Amino acid sequence: MRQNHLEEFYSLLRFPSISTDDQYKPRLVECAEWLVHKLGKIGLQTQLVATDGHPIVWARNEHRPDRRTVLIYGHYDVQPPDPLELWESPPFEPVLKNGYVFARGATDNKGQILSHIFGIQETLEENGRLPVNLHLVIEGEEEIGSVHLPGFLRQNRDALKSDVAVVSDTGMIARGTPTLSYALRGVTALEIKVTGPKMDLHSGIYGGAVQNPITALAQLLATLHDREGRVAIPGFYDRVKPLEQWEREAWRRLPIDCDRLILEETGAPELFGEAGYNSMERIWARPTAEINGIGGGYQGQGTKTVIPSHAFAKLTFRLVPEQQAGEILALAQAHLRKNLPRGVSMEITPGHSGPWYITDPRSPMGQAAQRALREAFNREVALIREGGSIPIVSQFREILGIETLLMGLALPDCRAHSPNENFPLENLEGGIRLNKAVLRELAKL
Ligand code: BES
Ligand code: MN
Repeated sequence: MRQNHLEEFYSLLRFPSISTDDQYKPRLVECAEWLVHKLGKIGLQTQLVATDGHPIVWARNEHRPDRRTVLIYGHYDVQPPDPLELWESPPFEPVLKNGYVFARGATDNKGQILSHIFGIQETLEENGRLPVNLHLVIEGEEEIGSVHLPGFLRQNRDALKSDVAVVSDTGMIARGTPTLSYALRGVTALEIKVTGPKMDLHSGIYGGAVQNPITALAQLLATLHDREGRVAIPGFYDRVKPLEQWEREAWRRLPIDCDRLILEETGAPELFGEAGYNSMERIWARPTAEINGIGGGYQGQGTKTVIPSHAFAKLTFRLVPEQQAGEILALAQAHLRKNLPRGVSMEITPGHSGPWYITDPRSPMGQAAQRALREAFNREVALIREGGSIPIVSQFREILGIETLLMGLALPDCRAHSPNENFPLENLEGGIRLNKAVLRELAKL
């Protein structure tokens, strides 16, 4: 690993580019400007594209008509680092331990976008030019649903015309095992606010005579699942395509022990999920309803005898082919309204949505990706689906008419979105080899 690469990796990680929190807006701009500067320095034409949200970094080389055009996509925004007290070192002060760099965004997605950038840089240094026409698009809103990127794609549809998109923002099934992901789950969010009395009340003076909004919310949320882990919203599974036998069998042959890995990595006392499916199937091919946050009432030290005025919960649903976000939101809202206990009112606010994606890993592009993966990591390639979501990928198909090659470098124990996120330098190096190889392979098609 070049010392320069490492220092630049640290510099990028030091920006607290937390897209969901407006307080960090200027930090996202600084992070994007750093990327613009870096990409300009390696010889790409680069611009910072302002949006109504966080800016987009767009870089390209000089295009020639007789070559393939590849769009590489990544994101420079990160998830909030909290809870801070669980970090062994501060989230925006990267440290290297046993070959792993620890910092928020190390894996998701800064280490992976840098492996693209360094791969491009080294190719340019070695050959003086790239083998393909390149668009590099790095956004700052992936972690909040890529709100403004579709508009950018639509506005620049002709300029962005490409043959394929390449994204490193997914996982490897194990260290050293190159992985091509051919599907992502979709996601759709909503927030519930339950209101009882107009203010917090003395629970001795009023308790027993009015509904407690937290009790009502707890009862309501408990109706989302049955005891067997199935989502209990009527119609929720209606459009879900059943898993095919060949896929179940192919996944069973993958060289990983998914159950053990999940138990080890999460510390959960046992596995739990929808009856009738194993962990891989539950994560990759089945939809879920998740409660991501819940609140209300007194949160400080000690006790406070109140009946709170409000309670809230934040929900997301992971979606699979052929579910539709709008329909799922409507079904969920109807279910919530029907099951709302008496004595409170409820407000539901839908949030961002991103569709699922599935493609054929055996297409000519997919095969080129597999050759590059094999070359970079010198091992058989694993073909998998993913449980996570990258909302823009389905828009690449819809707006630009192109498929996406998902060649991720995240390890199962990378701790993305969790405290102590990390990325091994081994994968930064592997990613650089991969990027050089994939441009070469795609150029041959
Ligand atoms: N890199 C992830 C997506 C991912 C994670 C794909 C693991 C495959 C495996 C991405 O940055 C992400 O976290 N996306 C969010 C999107 C959401 C906030 C709209 C997600 O999946 O929660
Ligand atoms: Mn993420």
